[in-house]
Amino acid sequence: MTRSLLELRNVDKIYGRGAGLFGSGRGGTYAVEGVSLSVRPGETLALVGESGCGKSTTARLALRLIETSGGEVLFDSKDVTRARGATLRSLRERMQMVFQDPFASLDPRMSVRQIIAEPLQVHRVKGDHRARVDELMALVGLRPDHAGRFAHEFSGGQRQRIGIARALALNPELLICDEPVSALDVSIQAQVINLMLDLRARLGLSYLFISHDLSVVRHIADRVAVMHLGRMIESGTKARIFSAPMHPYTRTMLSAVPQPDPGRRKPAVRIPATSGAIPGREGCLYRDRCPLASARCASERPQPRSVAEGHLVACHHAEEQAPFVLGQGGAVLTPGAQRRFELYVRKRAERSPA
Ligand SMILES: Nc1ncnc2c1ncn2[C@@H]1O[C@H](COP(=O)(O)OP(=O)(O)OP(=O)(O)O)[C@@H](O)[C@H]1O
Ligand SMILES: [Mg+2]
Repeated sequence: MTRSLLELRNVDKIYGRGAGLFGSGRGGTYAVEGVSLSVRPGETLALVGESGCGKSTTARLALRLIETSGGEVLFDSKDVTRARGATLRSLRERMQMVFQDPFASLDPRMSVRQIIAEPLQVHRVKGDHRARVDELMALVGLRPDHAGRFAHEFSGGQRQRIGIARALALNPELLICDEPVSALDVSIQAQVINLMLDLRARLGLSYLFISHDLSVVRHIADRVAVMHLGRMIESGTKARIFSAPMHPYTRTMLSAVPQPDPGRRKPAVRIPATSGAIPGREGCLYRDRCPLASARCASERPQPRSVAEGHLVACHHAEEQAPFVLGQGGAVLTPGAQRRFELYVRKRAERSPA
């Protein structure tokens, strides 16, 4: 077994749960439910899924920017969820976040030098901060003599380079990147992605890379994890996920057919505050949109299970589908496979109506 750098074990995040002793509080919204994932040293794990499925929440839980409602987060086998004081500080040096807009939360009156040096000051790093900032700027392809300028004087791509330089200031091992290139023009995206690939090789970094853009993921990822409504529904190597996706949702996501309203934010499933159980969260949450759904999908939550080396799928019927072939825009069915698939779905519907 390869050592994991970051590992999430069965992690939950419930927002808005009423207060109560011993977890007796009711209600709330699952942003993340039972998510497990691991990032190994030197690899890039891409986290994908539609808007609102819990990607950013997962990132924040990993860094403990927010507290978990259940489960464990381990970094280099150390428990992040319970770490305190110097241990937590050290863990926070070793993993850093790169945001979509690196300046959203920063004072616009700060110079680039101040922005990049801030983590060094916060963590009371000894040594020459000026020299370190120059070094970091050169590392990300910026001119150190521009360090006195303000963020607004830089282009979008340069600003993201500044964000990456800041994230690298403390020599982290893992960068958690939340849609780092989504706001950039496509040509600039490629430059930033190439910089990240270059930095990964030079510094031996690992990435948890969040993106809804599958062409970016295809470029940068080693492994891919797919989330749907707060749950992890499939994960595997990039080759497996793109060429042999097994979950019907992943297949739909990858298919060349445009989906209606792909960018629409889906509301999370709301748990009524009065209920003890968790109505709406039992069974498979994809079943209403799934051509393979059966009665079992309504009653029994599909747990991630291994279908091939390192390939996990949370679907009761994953194997019952027609094979995919890799097409231009992703995985598509051959006409023959499409016919067999439709026939299969029809027969299935006849066998078990509703
Ligand atoms: N602070 C919060 N309070 C209540 N609900 C929240 C909070 N933050 C996120 N949520 C909800 O949790 C769910 C997951 O949100 P999250 O931001 O993690 O999704 P995401 O996959 O990152 O989406 P996007 O692709 O749009 O960035 C959403 O339904 C969201 O509305
Ligand atoms: Mg997000």
